[in-house]
Amino acid sequence: MKFTLKVTKPELLNTDILCLFVWENEIKRSLLPLPKNILTHIEEGINAEDFKGSKNDFIVLSSKGLISSYKLILAGLGKKSDFNLGILMEQIAKTIRKVRENKGVKIGLVFVSDWSDIMGTQRTAQAIVEASNLAAYQFMKYKSGEESKNLRPIEEVIINIHPAGLAAAEQGIYLGRIMSRATNYSRDLVNEPPRLTTPAFLADEALKIAKNSSGTIKAAVLEEDEIEKAGMEAFLGVSRGSDELPKFIILRYKNPHAKKKIVVAGKGITFDTGGLSLKSPEHMETMKLDMAGAASVLGIFSALAELKPSVEAVGMIAACENMPSGKALKPGDILRAVNGKTIEVLNTDAEGRLTLADVLSYAVKKEKPDEIIDLATLTGACMIALGQDIAGIFGNNENLLTQLEKSAKESGEKIWRLPLEKGYKDLIKSHIADVKNIGTGKYAGAITAALFLEEFINKTSWAHLDIAGPAYMEKDTPINPKGGAGFGVRLILHYFNSI
Ligand code: BES
Ligand code: ZN
Ligand code: ZN
Repeated sequence: MKFTLKVTKPELLNTDILCLFVWENEIKRSLLPLPKNILTHIEEGINAEDFKGSKNDFIVLSSKGLISSYKLILAGLGKKSDFNLGILMEQIAKTIRKVRENKGVKIGLVFVSDWSDIMGTQRTAQAIVEASNLAAYQFMKYKSGEESKNLRPIEEVIINIHPAGLAAAEQGIYLGRIMSRATNYSRDLVNEPPRLTTPAFLADEALKIAKNSSGTIKAAVLEEDEIEKAGMEAFLGVSRGSDELPKFIILRYKNPHAKKKIVVAGKGITFDTGGLSLKSPEHMETMKLDMAGAASVLGIFSALAELKPSVEAVGMIAACENMPSGKALKPGDILRAVNGKTIEVLNTDAEGRLTLADVLSYAVKKEKPDEIIDLATLTGACMIALGQDIAGIFGNNENLLTQLEKSAKESGEKIWRLPLEKGYKDLIKSHIADVKNIGTGKYAGAITAALFLEEFINKTSWAHLDIAGPAYMEKDTPINPKGGAGFGVRLILHYFNSI
């Protein structure tokens, strides 16, 4: 999809479909730039369909030949006083879907001046591009019939703009394109079947990212013997039941003006059967998603060569499968992580925290970073607490958490803070080892998982994102078709850009 800026009258945009965005109860004022005859025609449509310009209001009208576009779409933005970035992105996404239903290939978006005033032209343009590309995303690789043949992708989005905003909007489009491409790449990785997205596949993707980065990014892969030498017993314990070999993937990006060194770790369980603590068929259905954190890390690094943020970033993924077999980890086994702490495994389905125990302690020991951020589809409990749309965030550094919350607002990705409640530490005490990998009792599962991870952080500033809910959409949403969401990619890229 190509994005073009044009400084001209909206009626001269020369597209298949012209999309006009209007404020609730201020419809006339929102449409003022249009010529009288079109306004009268639109007013007739508005009255006939009782269109108020609220957030769920859309009407599609024929242009009756009054302008070159054959159709007009009117999209409500809701009340100006309630407007924010999330609403803008959602309305753009819904509009893109309407355009697709109406077979538009070249579309125009009318950029009302006070609309960009609220969030600034650059950010508004960026949000338009991000929302359009994310809404237009489809994973059709395995559709062989009519469905894929009838697809008519939107080729060009022309944004109508005031001359004063041109440079800022160009920059917004540039950033939006990078961030949405990275997100859609991450979605692809999650959507691919688990037979393909093995640990070796993820390692190859990392090497490809490095190869395509003109030297900006380096990738290295530790093989099983090296993983063993590094002392990652917990990671190897999880991997042991599978015929696929584990891979420890390290990505590196360094800006000469780097202000901070940040490790971004992603849970990389390429399929989670639960191991010997086997999942039920319903719970296993979507478990190819368990490498979504790793997919986000790969998505993030796929954008860094172009984005060039002022950071040193190290990506880390312990990639393996969690399978039951004669060699598999058993409940009762005890494993030692890189930092020397011992873990009693009582449930082999709580495997993500085992692999992350080694990633986090290895990151602390080898990289001595300023900050560590991990992204993990860690617990069903976090989904129970926050639902499908919101990730849980935990951490030990107020400043890092606040910065990430700010970036979440900017990216439109939703996160919510949960407590690292020290009083619950007793719930992960083991009678035989230092910690156990599940909490006593059935409550606070997301918190006990986060407390477990904290055991491997030492004193490094750290934020843990439990993305079990928003990593994967169980049904279509305006911005996200059913499947992988690429959650966290834009959040972290926005964060890097703010440093
Ligand atoms: N990968 C799952 C968590 C998950 C569940 C992610 C649903 C996305 C959707 C994780 O490895 C797991 O199985 N966690 C267990 C932990 C329990 C055994 C303490 C869970 O949440 O049930
Ligand atoms: Zn599991
Ligand atoms: Zn898992």
